[in-house]
Amino acid sequence: MNKFSRIGFILAAAGSAVGLGNIWKFPYITGEFGGGAFVLVYLLCILLIGLSVFIAESFIGQYAESNVSSAFVKTSSKKNPLWKYAGFMVFSGLIILAFYSVVLGWILHYVVSSFSSLPSEASIAGASFAALTKDINTQIFYHTLISVTVIYIVLKGIKEGIEKVNLILMPLLALILFGLLLYALSLDSFSKAMGFMFVPDFSKINADALLAALGQAFFTLSLGIGTILTYSAALPKGSNFIKSSLYVAIIDTSIALISGLIIFTFLFEAGAPSAAGPGLVFISLPVIFSSWGILGQVIAISFFMALVFAGITSAVSMIEPALMFFIERFKMTRRSATVLCGAIFYILGIIALLSMSDEYGSLLSFSGKNAFDWMDFITSSVMMPLAAILTCVFLGYFVDKKLLQTSFEKHTSVLVFNIWYMLVKYLVPLAITILLINKLGLIS
Ligand code: PHE
Repeated sequence: MNKFSRIGFILAAAGSAVGLGNIWKFPYITGEFGGGAFVLVYLLCILLIGLSVFIAESFIGQYAESNVSSAFVKTSSKKNPLWKYAGFMVFSGLIILAFYSVVLGWILHYVVSSFSSLPSEASIAGASFAALTKDINTQIFYHTLISVTVIYIVLKGIKEGIEKVNLILMPLLALILFGLLLYALSLDSFSKAMGFMFVPDFSKINADALLAALGQAFFTLSLGIGTILTYSAALPKGSNFIKSSLYVAIIDTSIALISGLIIFTFLFEAGAPSAAGPGLVFISLPVIFSSWGILGQVIAISFFMALVFAGITSAVSMIEPALMFFIERFKMTRRSATVLCGAIFYILGIIALLSMSDEYGSLLSFSGKNAFDWMDFITSSVMMPLAAILTCVFLGYFVDKKLLQTSFEKHTSVLVFNIWYMLVKYLVPLAITILLINKLGLIS
């Protein structure tokens, strides 16, 4: 099989992890939950829960060197064929990609429109964002552009497509963020942003905040859809999967924190509210950029480009688990599997965007949610947590402990193994089950 180089794996897994989740979602939920205390809880969730599941997926992938479905069967101590059903998680990737591509399309539209002008008032910015989410033709145009790009990269394979794209886009993304961070550092509000993000006020923490932090830790590390497992199957044998997992978690967390600092500095500088919700980067930021004249325009273009780069490297990683599954189980060629998976997510994406329009909205809404929201809900609130619980229960109870021990002890101490094992066997499944029950409780 096509293998990554070790650095190629770290870049690709980091490319998958760093996405809209870091630059768009993390800042806005941090804003909604009031800053510092939420950040602290989030960091704990990454360290104790996210990283454990990341290492779990990475172990299974590297050990079994196959698609999600066969990997579970191969790794289970009794080689029980029923584990093939764990392969259900690869479909989450296609569903997420459907609406992720639509959102990436919005961002691409913002890159293009930032060249001509930026909205000068929040009401104008809000209205033009709302209009975009209802504009069928523009959205189909950008969704198609993103889909074709993703399919083109994925067609070229792990090494020539995915590794190469990450090798180019990840440094570019780092460069843009570094530039924006330097600019933020030069502004007076930087210290206020630091205070907002790093001085915890525990009165702002409630159960919702805990659950949001846990859900975000999963999403941002690309867990629960088989991406990390599938990428790890292309990790050279014998390379240290624990160390590379740690590097990816550090890169991902740093980028989320840096994005938060940049965005809150900009918001505070303009005296804008920090709790603006999902519209934060689409509505609040463009207005601020507009007040900075031509420099603001350059910053707007760079910022939205950074989001596109981060999003593309995540998007290609969402399709890979399903591809490997189709290629290995149904002996499809990479080309036909890509066409099939591409068609599925592209069509689902069209359904998602139509469901926000006035024309088709009511046709494509069920029990109070439109198709776009349903796709988000089903994946991030049901399928991904289920897959994560399954992965942990699998390793904790259905895989030979000796096998885990020997694989881990090549790379780490007995103590680290024991802590990881306890987390995966007890704490993580329990924490995610609570998350799952809670999210499902919100269904009606
Ligand atoms: N981690 C990506 C982000 O933060 C999203 C993602 C989820 C990518 C699942 C792959 C798999 O945007």
